[in-house]
Parts: sequence; structure tokens; C-alpha cells
Amino acid sequence: MLNTRLSLTQPKSPSLLSPSPSTSSLWTPLSTSHCIVPSNRSRPARLSYKVKCEKESGYNLSVVTPAEVTLKAIVSVQMTIGGVFAHLGLKRGLDDITDLLGKSLLLELVSAELDPKTGEEWKPVSAYAHKKSQDGDEAKYEASFKVPTGFGEVGAILVENEHRKEMFLKNIVLLTSNDEASKITFVCESWVHSKFDNPAEKRIFFSAKSYLPSQTPKGLVRLRGKDLESVRGDGAGERKSFERIYNYDVYNDLGNPDRNEDMARPVLGGSKEFPYPRRCRTGRPRTKKDPHSEQRGSNFYIPRDEAFSEVKNTTFSVKTLRSVLHAVVPSIETAIYDAKLGFPYFTAIDSLYDEGVTLPQQEGLSFFRTLVPRIVKALRDTTENVLLFETPEMIDRDKFAWFRDEEFSRQTLAGINPYSIKLLTELPIVSKLDPAIYGPPESLITAELIEQEIKGAMTAQEAIKQKKLFILDYHDLLLPYVHKVRELENTTLYASRTVFFLTHEGTLMPIAIELTRPASPTKPQWKQVFTDDWDATAAWLWKLAKVHVCAHDSGYHQLVSHWLRTHCCIEPYIIASHRQLSAMHPIYRLLHPHFRYTMEINSLAREYLISGGGIIESCFSPGKYSMEISSVAYGLEWQFDMEALPADLIRRGMAEEDPRAEHGLKLTIEDYPFANDGLLIWDSIKRWVTDYVNNYYKTPNDVLQDSELQEWWLEIRTKGHADKKDEPWWPKLETQGDLVHILTTIMWVCSGHHAAVNFGQYHFAGYFPNRPTIARSNMPVEDTKLEYFKKFWNKPEDALMQCFPSQIQATVVMSVLDILSSHSPDEEYISENPELSWKADPVINAAFERFNGRMKEIEGIIDARNSDTNLLNRCGAGIVPYELLKPFSGPGVTGKGIPNSVSI
Ligand SMILES: [Fe+2]
Repeated sequence: MLNTRLSLTQPKSPSLLSPSPSTSSLWTPLSTSHCIVPSNRSRPARLSYKVKCEKESGYNLSVVTPAEVTLKAIVSVQMTIGGVFAHLGLKRGLDDITDLLGKSLLLELVSAELDPKTGEEWKPVSAYAHKKSQDGDEAKYEASFKVPTGFGEVGAILVENEHRKEMFLKNIVLLTSNDEASKITFVCESWVHSKFDNPAEKRIFFSAKSYLPSQTPKGLVRLRGKDLESVRGDGAGERKSFERIYNYDVYNDLGNPDRNEDMARPVLGGSKEFPYPRRCRTGRPRTKKDPHSEQRGSNFYIPRDEAFSEVKNTTFSVKTLRSVLHAVVPSIETAIYDAKLGFPYFTAIDSLYDEGVTLPQQEGLSFFRTLVPRIVKALRDTTENVLLFETPEMIDRDKFAWFRDEEFSRQTLAGINPYSIKLLTELPIVSKLDPAIYGPPESLITAELIEQEIKGAMTAQEAIKQKKLFILDYHDLLLPYVHKVRELENTTLYASRTVFFLTHEGTLMPIAIELTRPASPTKPQWKQVFTDDWDATAAWLWKLAKVHVCAHDSGYHQLVSHWLRTHCCIEPYIIASHRQLSAMHPIYRLLHPHFRYTMEINSLAREYLISGGGIIESCFSPGKYSMEISSVAYGLEWQFDMEALPADLIRRGMAEEDPRAEHGLKLTIEDYPFANDGLLIWDSIKRWVTDYVNNYYKTPNDVLQDSELQEWWLEIRTKGHADKKDEPWWPKLETQGDLVHILTTIMWVCSGHHAAVNFGQYHFAGYFPNRPTIARSNMPVEDTKLEYFKKFWNKPEDALMQCFPSQIQATVVMSVLDILSSHSPDEEYISENPELSWKADPVINAAFERFNGRMKEIEGIIDARNSDTNLLNRCGAGIVPYELLKPFSGPGVTGKGIPNSVSI
């Protein structure tokens, strides 16, 4: 795309008054039948004008014209399922007539400048666009304008959709006659509502030039404010699907108290007990039983441009996921029937990958064979559908990897939840919870026990000093929920602590697992430490204890590392960006690609995944308390400043600042694949953001004086994360460096952080014994009088199967994770696609190309690391290379690729 700028100004020199033969054809006759030209201010009948087209190459084109100049606009409109090209229904017929009449879209050109004579805005120049052609799924509408003298640069175009249905506008190209060189593109990529839905409002599309608020061309100042006001709305009423209003609300739609008492859920957000980030306000009516909860219904409003599914149709991952949840999951539930039925033995688990589960005949299921061919397949020689899973690569390479301790601990550094492992900094390990309620706080993983398990390699204190001990600590977060969860059917819970020792080789060795049940009015506290000892009973108990820890880690991963810290916390950034940063603000344009599809997937999550009775509650250990636990984690742990990767690593003791080290950080475990690759991505984003920010902000004062930017940051802190608004750790926004750090943090969370915890889900949990989402039975030794202990004693494999997820839970989770791990064909990877406005600015364009170059280089660095046999946490017999932070990928379940945004 050329960097063109077109303006219509009076020539300064009389010598320009002679038209050149080669360019005079740019001008078409003044009167055209379909053009409506508003009565502009009176002016002389004929004046000469200069049309200036500046390109990157820098040449100017000057011609002399009559008093009015004719401009052509070509509007590209995308075919959609529900929009104006839908082929069914009465509205379609009326819209055809509208097209035939040539009054399809009313366009108004707005000057960026003020009329020098009046000092006021020029009156916009209007014309109707009429349908000119249709090629495949794209139609072209054209309009012709007569632009008066001295009108200046066109800075915005207002659009009114005369159809009865909404339209998806891709772009509007302005040009003089058919002169390609004079072309200016206004990127729209937006739904334009029918004027019959909202007659009072025309859509505003600004040109690709970015302006800080203080630099806004005078002719656009009013529109800049008006567009923001329209996006903010007034915070009242129920949102309608065609609207584009962004506002905040609490999570009060997870339950359904009107259905029954058991479906009531607490409101998350807005209280000390359950702090939470805000979601997008929908304004639905309140439930009858609980005035604080919102009815769920079928309308999960999101602002219109956040929902692109009708454009992308079947290739869009969110749509695929919706289909799987709608049809495949109920089919599984019908096929297996007994919700509690576990797998009888390991070979039954293996059969999921070679024979599959035959699904009941159901209308529409054959469609899923094409939609999700990885999951639903046709049985040979029959018309039956079968749910047949792909064997994850880790099991393909090493069937027993999941069973081994070294793989269990390796996955804390190179698995899908690399965010939990922490340095153990002191002994004894003590709980911060109230001993009066929960029992003695001291852990049974004592210095003596550690020394015994590391076979006297060093004392426990030396191990602490040498930073050799690490911990997965799910004690204080889970302990308060143990009794509540145990009251639910078909699940159980402990609090857990797992301690690891860093070997000479730089790998982790798990040395002890402690499981705890707190005191209750009827029973004292119960806790026990399990170690992998040299006898059959201890070895089997160790395996069972690992199942509990994996279920805890799996829950924490989905609820905190994944949902809360990426999907959920990003939504307020999106809302604030739309409400406070104009579409012409350079920071809006920088962030916009990082917010693609996030609100749509989050709304779908509220509908099916995290809702009362949804997939998470049905398949994860904490059941109906799952979301409450994520709220408690938000309250205890979440800090914006700690979402920056370096700060997160330092906070967990996994790194310390070292100016001599690469990235200024020395890692505690040198071969920590997530941290090593993540820091490359973090640094690369930071360099791109630095180049970008410095191009627009020359002094700290520019940052301080940017009213939109300051309001944006204020709103993120005080409205989007209102329950944390008074925390002292919020970074200040006073300098370019502050801005770079805040933006890098947001962009890292949207891209690298999410990719690291999302796209390996099927790889690691597609064979569920490696990462069960739930442990359904207590440790057999908690009560040796029970039948379960006898079962364990006679045949421990049966106890393991009973503890594992049920057949329905396992297969539902595997189906969903397969989709969640998938890239759609239209995925946009980091540094891949520059925005038009960036390409139009040589400085930004060059910076973006450097960014893309670094990402390509990182691909090579990661490949080299994965084949370095010294790096035992990512390279070894049967080990799947760590590729989750490789920037690029093809479509499908690839286990690599960093999309710009949280899109699935
Ligand atoms: Fe995700």
C-alpha cells in the first residue's frame, strides 16, 4: 500500500494554472446524475486548485482544475451470512430495491481542515454510493463527489447504511477519476448498522493517519470526541446486537438462580470477598431470585465488531468450538450415559485413539466430520460417526512418558503451565492460613525429610542457599475449599505442596508430595507426605498423589494461568482502549491487533465453559467452586506489574536481575525453556514498542499531556480492575519508558503468555493420564477402613482408574482441548501483518520490519535450542521439542505459533 495523501488546496503560484496534458484527464465533468452536492458556502464560480498526491517516493502531482473537483469513492463490502447479502427473507428483497435505486450507502467526506474564511468546519460533501459490481463474496459500491475549492485533505468519511440490514465494510478507496496514484484507502473492517436500527448515528471512519489528541487536525476535533462518546454509550439499557458500545460490568451472569438453587453463583467482582476484573456490560434484566444476578438468556452481547464469526464462517475457531459444544458434547453424554463411569483399565483408555467412541445417530453430526475431522470420523463401511482422538505426539514418541517422574517435573518448566513453579526460599514451609480454622500450619516436608530424599547430597539449608529447592504450592489457595468440594458428588479435594530438587544436570527431581485435609468440626486435620520409595505400596501411593497434584495444576492452569491472567484480565484493556482512545490514536492502532476475537471467545466462555454447570465445573476437581477459586487467586496474586515476564520470573525466584546477563536476567534454572524463549519474545516486543512510542512521544510531557492516554490508563486501573484500584503497585504513566513498559506487558500477555499456556493443551492433556483435570477419590490411606482401601490393596490399578476422570469427563475435555489448541486458517501471528497506518509511515514501517525480522530469527534460535543435547529439559529420548513460543505456525493443532491476540 502506498503512503499517499491527497489534498485539495489553492495553488500558491500562477505558474501552476496551466493543466498538464498528461494529468488533466484526472478531472471528470462536474455534473453527474446520482451525485448530491450540499450547498456549500458561496464562492467564486471558477477557481484553480492544486491536487497534491504525495507518495513514499516523494513526487508531487500538480494540476489545475475547475472550481469543483470530482472524487470517486469505491466501497468494498464483504459478503456475510447475516448481513446485507443474506439471500433469504423480506429484508433482502427490500435491500435489492435499495440497491437498484442507487441509494445504498450515503457517504460524506469530511475535511481535516477548517474553512479559512469562516474558521469553522467545512460542510461535508455527500453522495450516495450505488452497487457497481460483485465478485465472489465482495461487492463494490461507487460514489462520485464534487468537492469545493480549498476543501483540503479528506480526514474522515461518514457512512449511513440505507439498507434494512447491517453491512460489513472492508474499506473505502478515494481517488480522482481512475488514477491509481491518487488512491487513499480508509480502512473500515467494520459492521455498519442499518439506519433503520439507529437513524441518529452515522458511522465515522478516519483516514489511516494517526494523531495524538493535541495534534488532531482542527476539522476532525469534534468528530474525534463524538466517535468516542458514541462508543462509550450512557451505561443504561439492554445492549442490542448491532451496537458498538463498550462498558463495564461484574461477572454476575455465571449462574442461573431462577432455574434452581443449586445453579446460583456468587457475583464475581465488586466485593472484597470476590474481587474480579470487569467484563463487557450487556444490560440484560436481573434474575427473579437474585437481584444482583443477570439473566443469561440467549443474548450474550458483545460490541458488533468484536464478533467476526459471520465473516469468517466455518474456518473460525470460536465458531467451531461453539459447534462442538452444541453437538459433539451432548452426543458424548448420550453415548456414554453414566456420568460417573470411569475407565475399567488402561487398554480402554488406549482404545480412544484406535477404536474411538461410537456416537449416536444425530442430525447434523456428519457435518462435524468436515468441521472437526480430527475428532469426529466416519466408521469405515458404515454411516456411523465415531469420536476418535489423535494420539498426542508425546505419547506417540514415548507411551510411558506421562508415568515418569522426570517428565512430571520437566513439564513444570516446559509444559503448558510453566507459571506455577517457584523457588523455595525458606524452611520450615508454613501456611499463612489461620491455624484456629485449618489446623497446624507447618508442613510435614521438613528439612530432615528433604535431606533423606536427596540422599545426603547436602543439608537442606545448603540446598536453600544454593537455590536447589523448588515448589508447586497449591496449599493456601485450595485448603479453604477442601470441605466444600468434598460435599459435592463425584469429586474430592486436598491442598497440596510438591517439592523438587534441582539436580547437577539442571533437571528437576520431585522429592515429596504433601496432601492436606483441614480440620473440621468433626475431624482433625489430616495430612501426609508421599515419596517415591522402594516398596510397592509407597510407589503406588506416590502415583496416586501425583494424580492429585496434576489435577490441582490442571485446575490452576485453566482457571488462573490461562483464563484469569490472559482472557479475563485482557477484557478491561479492550474496553478501555475503545472507550478512551480514538480510532486515530497511535496507541489504539498499536493495540488493536492484539485484541482480535478476545471478547467473542470470552463471551463464549461465559456461555459454556466457566458458567454454572459448564465444562469447567463438570470436569475439574473444584466443581462449582472453580470460578470462586479464580477470584480468590485474583485477589491474592494478581498484580499488573507482575504480569511482565521478567517481573513474574523474579517474583517466583526463577530469575534475578543481572546487568551482565542476556535480557538483564540470570535464570535460577538455566535450562527453563519457557523463560528462555519467552524472554526473547518479550525483548522483541519491547524493542518494537519502544520504536513505536518514541516516534509519537518526543518528551515525557507528550505522555503527560495526552489526555486520551491518561484517561485510558486511569480507566483500566479504576474501572476495568476496579477492585484493585487502590493498590500501590500500579505503574505510573509519566514517561515514554512507563508507556513502553505498560504496553509491552499488555502485548506480551495477549501474545506470548497466552500462546505458552494455550496451544499445547492437547499435546499435554490429550492423553488425560498425563494431566487429569480431576481426582475423584481420596487417597486410600486417608481412611483405611473404607472399601476403597481394599480395592487399592488388591488391585491398585483399579484405584487409579477410579481416581481418574470419568469417561464422559475425559472425552469432553479432550474434545474441547483439541479445538482450543487449534489455530484457524486466518490466524494472525505476531509481527506478521502491519496495519495500513504503519506501512504508510516509513519510520514505523522500518521498525515493524525489524520486529518481523527478529521473530524470524527467534524461530531459528528456538530450533537450535531444541536440538542442543545439553539442554535436557527440552532435548532427549522421546522428548517433544519445546515449540510453544515459536512465533509462526500453519493452521491446526501444531503446538507452536504466537497469535497477536487471545483468539481461542
Ligand atoms: Fe485461550
